[in-house]
Amino acid sequence: MKVTVVGAGAVGASCAEYIAIKDFASEVVLLDIKEGYAEGKAMDLMQTASLNGFDTRIIGTTNDYSKTAGSDICVITSGIPRKPGMTREELIGINAGIVKTVSSSLVAHSPNTILIVVSNPMDTMTYLVHKTTDLPKSRIIGMGGALDSARFKYRLAEALGAPISDVDGMVIGGHSDKGMVPLTRMATRNSVPVTEFISQDRLDQVKEDTKVGGATLTKLLGTSAWYAPGAAVSGLVQAIACDQKKIFPCSTLLEGEYGLNDLCIGVPVVLGKNGIEKIVVLDLNDAEKAHMSESAEGVSKTNGLLSL
Ligand code: 2OP
Repeated sequence: MKVTVVGAGAVGASCAEYIAIKDFASEVVLLDIKEGYAEGKAMDLMQTASLNGFDTRIIGTTNDYSKTAGSDICVITSGIPRKPGMTREELIGINAGIVKTVSSSLVAHSPNTILIVVSNPMDTMTYLVHKTTDLPKSRIIGMGGALDSARFKYRLAEALGAPISDVDGMVIGGHSDKGMVPLTRMATRNSVPVTEFISQDRLDQVKEDTKVGGATLTKLLGTSAWYAPGAAVSGLVQAIACDQKKIFPCSTLLEGEYGLNDLCIGVPVVLGKNGIEKIVVLDLNDAEKAHMSESAEGVSKTNGLLSL
């Protein structure tokens, strides 16, 4: 199993590290445009192999896509991260060009690959990959909801005073501060609805804290987060690599599901060896449907900024 991660910055390197530690891939190729940077990160990571107990080989390359040839899965993290006060959508001007070039280069060397897009604005970048490569929609996946759901569970556990292992919840919709749809109605504490334990007001606060989870960290860190994004995308890679048939909320091209067409937005999907193997259509209530529609409008508006 060969995995390529483009972008050896904090998110890409964290993703590579988590993939290596989980030890399900034979090889991880880390690629960056900055001279020597990916090679250095790969060597540093390989020097943890005896300490962290993995046999995965990590190699780094400076912009040589021939090294990525035959990758089963490719992750695109390249692009600029946001600064405090910025929205993800403000990154489109620079990141669209980068993602277009990177995805074309990856597909040219690995025509059978499954592409996972992390670069922001992620839903629009995922849509861009559909429009600029000939990969089938099952093999183009946007990572946002897995990260947002992890932040949702963190906030739920905090509100419940419960261990995170007892908490389940999902965030669908756009990966944007205003567009996320945390499904509070379906959240549970070990199969018990969380509304049995916390008030609606507290749950509403959990929802709002989740939606600005990324911006909260960007304000604290001065740049975008990287541990949870890296871990979230490594979970998608593992589900595909190990054919786990796990459900994750991922950004995928909708063609009528949820009443939406011609955009990529976060919905629950089954991930396995073929990539997106099924789109799961939830029975949303009227309020949730309205939130999804508003979210889709926001994503479509950002898509409109692309020069396709
Ligand atoms: C985040 O929410 C980088 O979009 C990513 O942290």
